[in-house]
Amino acid sequence: MTVPTKTLPSGAELPALGLGTYDLGDQTGDSVRAALDAGYAHIDTAEGYHNEAAIGDALAEYDRDDVFLTSKVLAKNLNYESVIASCEASLDRLGTDYVDLYLIHWPNPAISLRETLRAMAELRERGLVRDVGVSNFSAYQLSCAHHVSDVPIAVNQIEFHPWFQRPDLVDYCRESDTVIEAAAPLARTDVFGDEVVAELAETYDKSPAQVVLRWALDNDVVALPRSSTPEHVRANADLDWELDEADRRQLDERDRDEPVYDTPARDWTSDVYGIEQ
Ligand SMILES: NC(=O)c1ccc[n+]([C@@H]2O[C@H](COP(=O)([O-])OP(=O)(O)OC[C@H]3O[C@@H](n4cnc5c(N)ncnc54)[C@H](OP(=O)(O)O)[C@@H]3O)[C@@H](O)[C@H]2O)c1
Repeated sequence: MTVPTKTLPSGAELPALGLGTYDLGDQTGDSVRAALDAGYAHIDTAEGYHNEAAIGDALAEYDRDDVFLTSKVLAKNLNYESVIASCEASLDRLGTDYVDLYLIHWPNPAISLRETLRAMAELRERGLVRDVGVSNFSAYQLSCAHHVSDVPIAVNQIEFHPWFQRPDLVDYCRESDTVIEAAAPLARTDVFGDEVVAELAETYDKSPAQVVLRWALDNDVVALPRSSTPEHVRANADLDWELDEADRRQLDERDRDEPVYDTPARDWTSDVYGIEQ
């Protein structure tokens, strides 16, 4: 497979296809091995996924330098000391000296972003992380991050798929040279039922997942599909084919502004945010 890359501020190359690992449970190790054996060079995890130790075990069987590894700090751990402690604990579980990319998993309005980003800069300075970024940030939150950060914000990982295309946020990311990573690029399978996705899958003799992933990459977005099924992991890496420009545009037209996880009403007091009432 031929996977394009995006150059990050450190000079590192971020592969445009990565394995998502949220909620893989006992399947984590097997999925990671299936992905690396199939030629993936990018794994996405987070302290909140509780799978870093399993990923570390799998990674130990491969050359660490061949894998682009991302982890994330939970929104409840965004004060200075907690960011440093979270990162060190992630590295310990992952069995590595560094992550290629370290993301703020969610914005936390109760903790100073300037303080969080000072800790991220410190991690970069110490070589524990190569690039830093954010996740689930709105355009406003991302612009604040760019303004107060001493280190470049390389990435915004956001929910993105044909039913949730977020044109204003995408435009702002592009204007500010922030690489977009698509979380839930398959809309957790919901978009497989879209009539244009199904039609194109038929036309190109591909699966709906393959159509949606090809479209994401053609839109210059890094895709992080998750699968617990090794056959799906391998199939999702079949990117050596082309989607006609007109067909790509048909998928561009499918936006419904319909998220699967980044819904407007969230419980800010949950364990993820750690904000006490
Ligand atoms: N930053 C954040 O807050 C955030 C939020 C959500 C997601 N993410 C990241 O993005 C990754 C992906 O998102 P996600 O895990 O929510 O969901 P997703 O990748 O959109 O969808 C996963 C679902 O698609 C199915 N699937 C995958 N490939 C398939 C194929 N070829 N054919 C049929 N079904 C297929 C999987 O089932 P099988 O297991 O049976 O294949 C699973 O049910 C996450 O794992 C995580 O790394 C980040």
